[in-house]
Amino acid sequence: MKLSALLPLALASVALAIEMDFTNTTSINAGLALLAKGLMDYYNGNDTGQTPGMFSNPYYWWEAGAAWGSMIDYWYYTNDTKYNDIVKSSLLFQIGPNWDYMPENQTTTEGNDDQGFWGVTVMAAAEKNFDEPGDGMPSWTYLAQAVFNTMAARWDTTYCNGGLRWQIYTWNNGYNYKNAVANGCLFNLAARLARYTQNSSYVDWAEKVWDWVVEVKFIPTDSDAWPVYDGGSIESSCNDTSVLEWTYNSGLYLSGAAFMYNHTGDEKWLNRTQHIWARAKVFFEDSTLIMYEAACQPSNQCNNDQRSFKGIFSRFLGLTSMMAPTLSDEIQQYLAATTPGILSSCSGGTDGHTCGLDWTQGKWDGKYGLGEQMCGLEGLQNRLVWTRSPPLTETTGGTSKSNGTAGTVTKKQTTHNELNIETKDKAGAGIITAVLLLVMLVTAWWMIF
Ligand SMILES: *[C@@H]1O[C@H](CO)[C@@H](O)[C@H](O)[C@H]1NC(C)=O
Ligand SMILES: *[C@@H]1O[C@H](CO)[C@@H](O)[C@H](O)[C@H]1NC(C)=O
Ligand SMILES: *[C@@H]1O[C@H](CO)[C@@H](O)[C@H](O)[C@H]1NC(C)=O
Ligand SMILES: *[C@@H]1O[C@H](CO)[C@@H](O)[C@H](O)[C@H]1NC(C)=O
Ligand SMILES: *[C@@H]1O[C@H](CO)[C@@H](O)[C@H](O)[C@H]1NC(C)=O
Ligand SMILES: *[C@@H]1O[C@H](CO)[C@@H](O)[C@H](O)[C@H]1NC(C)=O
Ligand SMILES: *[C@@H]1O[C@H](CO)[C@@H](O)[C@H](O)[C@H]1NC(C)=O
Ligand SMILES: *[C@@H]1O[C@H](CO)[C@@H](O)[C@H](O)[C@H]1NC(C)=O
Ligand SMILES: *[C@@H]1O[C@H](CO)[C@@H](O)[C@H](O)[C@H]1NC(C)=O
Repeated sequence: MKLSALLPLALASVALAIEMDFTNTTSINAGLALLAKGLMDYYNGNDTGQTPGMFSNPYYWWEAGAAWGSMIDYWYYTNDTKYNDIVKSSLLFQIGPNWDYMPENQTTTEGNDDQGFWGVTVMAAAEKNFDEPGDGMPSWTYLAQAVFNTMAARWDTTYCNGGLRWQIYTWNNGYNYKNAVANGCLFNLAARLARYTQNSSYVDWAEKVWDWVVEVKFIPTDSDAWPVYDGGSIESSCNDTSVLEWTYNSGLYLSGAAFMYNHTGDEKWLNRTQHIWARAKVFFEDSTLIMYEAACQPSNQCNNDQRSFKGIFSRFLGLTSMMAPTLSDEIQQYLAATTPGILSSCSGGTDGHTCGLDWTQGKWDGKYGLGEQMCGLEGLQNRLVWTRSPPLTETTGGTSKSNGTAGTVTKKQTTHNELNIETKDKAGAGIITAVLLLVMLVTAWWMIF
């Protein structure tokens, strides 16, 4: 689907709506193939003048990282290898000179969460034995460890007694903000690396990040259902909490805790998983149990980033099902209840399989984009978790080799990009983040009033 061609023929969509019979593998694969094709239609990184690994405007670099994760799962659940070469070459094109997902083009704007989501994707590649880079290139696990190590090195005890800041670079707004997503990526990677590599340092890190997030009350634990709040500023010792709740933040901690439970067998982690899940049910409409992005969908304020969150959340729900099987029946029940909403929504555009944002309308809502398409695909394919092996580890068949020092050694003299950033670039990056922050505040205002 090309964006420009989308709207005029919207009416044609009804006849082409996807039908999927979840008891019939042929039917499931046919439906998922259409949604995956819809997602890849937003990719033009292989065209002349475009950048491999990046999706078309206006999608930020981080979302490309997340989208490749959706495509790895697509391959895993359907066995359709059609896009694997593009996924692999994209993941490798963006690794950056130090093999840690800090490519030079992103160095004015990259945040911890941006880097973190590429890390989460290559972690999944390792856990699923996705075709290894090979030939002098780092392994998927190496890349995940490099992301983890570079993020962990930014742990900051000067303010709020610990935690990662949202932003990496001082000139970006959000540098003074510590938040759930940056720390959630670190936590999720620590938990999964602990299980994959059996290196106990990662267990210690997962404990440390979790304890801190609870200490600053981004996850308040004084009730039965634990929300994951957005974050707080260093000027206020992180206690001026923004109480926005995003699906993907809940998912980062939910699945991270489930991985910790699976790895350690410690009931405390099952308990934490259960408490987060108890609250995550707010992301499903009361009567129908159809998933929605509660913080922005009802007010019609979801930005491009936020439109992808339900997809990332769905992926984390799939992982949680597998890592804490006692929760699987209930989680899968919620995903199954969401399915009719997704199928009726993913019936838009000229191609008839363009997904909308709001799944509760019983039809396409006229919205479209990379995020919407990821959400549709992930929301459906994570019902298939039990058709394939759960995430592998280095001792249960995972072939991707770990390397604990990944990311701690400078591989190449960097070009002093960071030092020579021109004032106009700084201002540009500052303005972008200022606008984002404003959008966030306006959204918060909408929620409250
Ligand atoms: C399964 O789905 C395929 C494709 O939609 C269809 O052709 C086939 O008849 C279905 N099989 C059964 C047993 O329903
Ligand atoms: C994909 O391949 C695996 C391994 O051969 C098999 O177990 C699984 O059933 C296949 N899935 C589909 C959807 O064909
Ligand atoms: C374009 O995609 C193919 C995979 O189909 C990949 O092998 C190739 O490296 C890509 N080209 C560029 C410039 O990334
Ligand atoms: C960086 O940007 C330049 C100019 O757009 C592009 O040619 C190059 O491929 C990009 N590199 C990466 C790793 O994104
Ligand atoms: C929040 O932090 C500020 C700044 O450190 C401090 O003055 C204030 O007492 C704190 N409030 C609470 C409720 O802890
Ligand atoms: C978690 O553990 C606490 C303390 O042991 C207990 O009171 C609570 O009921 C447990 N929660 C769940 C969901 O099992
Ligand atoms: C860990 O995950 C595996 C795979 O889903 C499952 O068989 C096992 O029961 C899980 N362990 C625990 C303690 O739930
Ligand atoms: C275990 O992980 C720690 C922390 O990342 C790292 O420093 C150490 O080298 C790793 N050990 C091994 C044997 O890989
Ligand atoms: C691990 O990674 C470091 C840093 O890239 C590298 O110097 C070292 O050779 C690697 N070790 C192995 C066993 O590949």
